[in-house]
Amino acid sequence: MSNESEISRRRTFAIISHPDAGKTTLTEKLLLFGGAIHVAGAVKSNKIKKTATSDWMEIEKQRGISVATSVMGFNYGDYKINILDTPGHQDFAEDTYRTLTAVDSVIIVVDVAKGVETQTRKLMEVCRMRNTPVIIFVNKLDREGRDPFDILDELEKELKISVRPLSWPINIGAKFKGVYNIYEHSLNLFQPDKQHVTDRVEIDDIIDHTIDDAVGEDDAAQLRADIDLIDGVYPEFDVTEYLDGQLAPVFFGSALNTFGVKELLDCFVRIAPSPRAVQAEERIVTPTEEPFSGFVFKIHANMDPNHRSCIAFVKVCSGVFRRNETYKHVRSGKTYRFSAPTAFMAQKKEIIDEVYPGDIVGLPDNGIFKIGDTITESEDLHFKGLPSFSPEMFKYIENTDPMKTKQLNKGIEQLMDEGVAQLFVNQFNNRKIIGTVGQLQFEVIQYRLLHEYGAQCRWEPINLYKACWIESEDEDAMSAFKKRIYQFMAVDREGRDVFLADSNYVLQMAQQDFPKIRFHFTSEF
Ligand code: G4P
Repeated sequence: MSNESEISRRRTFAIISHPDAGKTTLTEKLLLFGGAIHVAGAVKSNKIKKTATSDWMEIEKQRGISVATSVMGFNYGDYKINILDTPGHQDFAEDTYRTLTAVDSVIIVVDVAKGVETQTRKLMEVCRMRNTPVIIFVNKLDREGRDPFDILDELEKELKISVRPLSWPINIGAKFKGVYNIYEHSLNLFQPDKQHVTDRVEIDDIIDHTIDDAVGEDDAAQLRADIDLIDGVYPEFDVTEYLDGQLAPVFFGSALNTFGVKELLDCFVRIAPSPRAVQAEERIVTPTEEPFSGFVFKIHANMDPNHRSCIAFVKVCSGVFRRNETYKHVRSGKTYRFSAPTAFMAQKKEIIDEVYPGDIVGLPDNGIFKIGDTITESEDLHFKGLPSFSPEMFKYIENTDPMKTKQLNKGIEQLMDEGVAQLFVNQFNNRKIIGTVGQLQFEVIQYRLLHEYGAQCRWEPINLYKACWIESEDEDAMSAFKKRIYQFMAVDREGRDVFLADSNYVLQMAQQDFPKIRFHFTSEF
């Protein structure tokens, strides 16, 4: 097969949702269709149980499992599908944001009873920043839930994207009878089944009397009225609008009952984008280019303290990655040869010789890589990553074993490279501040510093509201600002100026008093 056809058959995507909407269940069902697993229940959830918030060892054990399920590749018909898993726990949201830099599209799962929830909203913002094409799956139709029209309105309003239903439910909850596939003009009757695909009733169109026989006259009439309304309100589905990230097709179903999932998958492989051109700082890189290039979007540490090794997950952007070839690590300028790159197929890790654009290759890493690093055949390319977001929690990190200062500093550096948290150094007192998106990271860092680096630390509270990156062309304004808030000035790891605001009020006052200074809440601007 030519490179071009290998590329065009690839679909690399992530499933995202608020915890409990059904992401794990849907992932499993997709694997079931791909023949990657044979019975439901085979995928170990990397979902972090809500009860485990203080027992982070348990969480890491669960996260350990997720190395295998981090990328799930399988073939479905002529397509090669890669599902990139994302952690369900919101304290690991940064991991999810970064994974979204490596996908070409996204499926969002929404619970029909709960509608759009916080985490969904946040993840959608990240998709919007990158114009990632999005398909929405409204799940749990077998349970009582909200009116589907209400759900559509909410999706449009809350996710700030136009929607177009491509399937439509006939009742929901106890009276749920099935879905009408608007895209293919077929009717699927609901039979709860956790393992098998339900049968399809072929119909000519919406006026076909077979529908009345299948669901009863009243429901058939209601369905016709609904479809009429949908056709009147929503414009025809336009695939280019979807590919531009402007329009989200919506499907209804029940992941647990394997219902509506095949329709979703069949439509997904047809319309979802294959690997697309990627913007590097220097130029646009297209997947069909001959020379290999790729970037690290995730680093997964081995939790075994005796083997401090990691796996760097590299998304191939162009060319073909080949085992034992020499590639350039652009940040260091050094070249490396990888003799044991791994592919991720159906939960198994195996050594692979060639990796195509869209695929993810796992490279053993003993401290070479940092999130966002680019690897190329020779060219100096820098792929634009996803910005780091302003952390939401802050603590001073203090060394409690002065004999191990070096180990502590090395440990902090490496954990920051892995993207576990962000480090700022306060310019006033020179103390190190760690910023995270969740409480759990502090426990993770403390534990890992001790077990992997033999360093001990303690956390001290600091009252901060937000860290924001600041810049200005006006040097006088900048120095006046720094003078005024000198106690709250810090630098990040790249040496950029960061303002540590201790309250929303202080931040607003600063913005008001210093209009010539720009305040950024993400690290890329
Ligand atoms: P997540 O990864 O998004 O966090 O969600 P997950 O798939 O784990 O699903 C959350 C809960 O919702 C699970 O129940 C799952 O069985 C259930 N669920 C998923 N899809 C459907 C559906 O279509 N209908 C119904 N009725 N339930 C669904 P749980 O009791 O929390 O977990 P488990 O013990 O079943 O694993």
